[in-house]
Amino acid sequence: MPMIYFDHAATTPMHPEAIKAYAEEAAKGPRNPSSLHAEGRAARAALTASRDSIARLLGCDPGELVFTGGGTESDNAALYGAAHAQRQRTGRDRIVTSAIEHHAVLNACSKLEAEGFKLTVLPVDGTGRVLLSAAEEAIGPDTAVVSVMYGNNEVGTLQPIEEIGRLARERGAVMHVDAVQAFGHERLFLQELPIDLLSLSAHKIGGPQGVGVLYVRRGTPFEPTAVGGSQEKSRRAGTENVAGIAAFAKAAELAYADLEERGRELERIRSKLLSALEEELGADSFRINGATEEGARLPHIVNLSFPGISNETMLMNLDLAGVAASAGSACTAGSLQPSHVLLAMGLETHFSQSAIRFSFGMGNNSAEAEKTAKIIATITKRLRKR
Ligand SMILES: Cc1ncc(COP(=O)(O)O)c(C=O)c1O
Repeated sequence: MPMIYFDHAATTPMHPEAIKAYAEEAAKGPRNPSSLHAEGRAARAALTASRDSIARLLGCDPGELVFTGGGTESDNAALYGAAHAQRQRTGRDRIVTSAIEHHAVLNACSKLEAEGFKLTVLPVDGTGRVLLSAAEEAIGPDTAVVSVMYGNNEVGTLQPIEEIGRLARERGAVMHVDAVQAFGHERLFLQELPIDLLSLSAHKIGGPQGVGVLYVRRGTPFEPTAVGGSQEKSRRAGTENVAGIAAFAKAAELAYADLEERGRELERIRSKLLSALEEELGADSFRINGATEEGARLPHIVNLSFPGISNETMLMNLDLAGVAASAGSACTAGSLQPSHVLLAMGLETHFSQSAIRFSFGMGNNSAEAEKTAKIIATITKRLRKR
């Protein structure tokens, strides 16, 4: 039975063109981009081409991009880097973040708190959107860094990044945005956005795992976390993953090439899943968690609760039927903890404990959504009868 893979927010299949770009680069032999010989210079040229390509998509200067080992590293480097530099330069010692951030941000904030930074966690509304009034109140003359994600990885809700970024800018704080889930689905023009630091990850858009980018706007207070060699203009030491970065650049180019068209296809898959569920089960049998209107959420993530059926039971049954989905983020899915995102949204226990995230991407189609709805209906009817 072919698997229906509806867990693209956890990781995506690598695009065949990205695999080709990786293989071509990796096959070129021992090439360290920091070496001065011809081989090294060729690797540097490849790295430069990848950097230029991603910078063009983001509308930034190539020199503002730092290659990292993934989204988590980018988030960590952004928070530690800006917090430490801000405290040293200005004495500012408050971090403002939101309750629905990925643990790569939240746990970095906890570490900074243990170091003596003050922490304010912004609440969200019932759709998972950060309350602007709370940001307005929290960001002040002591704020070193504000970190709010672009689009949430569990429910897909888009955040008021421009408004919060403007507040941060007006009040002298550094603005960090985790755009790991939004990149490749939303066009991010960094020239126009009040963002100082931006985290991206390759494996969410058809690139390889373990490759990421941290955008550091020129002039942003930033102290490197990884120290050693002077790679990445001394902002992240360590030999760059040249082949992985080439594959990331290829995946990013492809994601941008048909971004709107793919967004519409993802919307169709999402709509089909919902309409088929309504038909099979009735609209009262499940609940959509997060923003529902198009434009207020990412197109590839939908979070649904099936009250009366724990998410573990549902996931196990889906897995047996050949459907891969998840409960919350991949990093917490194995931990049986209730999702901090759904809790922050104020979901009652019977909704938060029965929530499943479906996330779509390359290779998916509406027929799979219809089939999945039928499988869910069969599981639900069987389990609810007991
Ligand atoms: C919003 C968000 N931030 C950060 C990460 C971490 O990225 P990586 O897996 O590349 O470390 C993820 C991955 O799930 C994510 O969804």
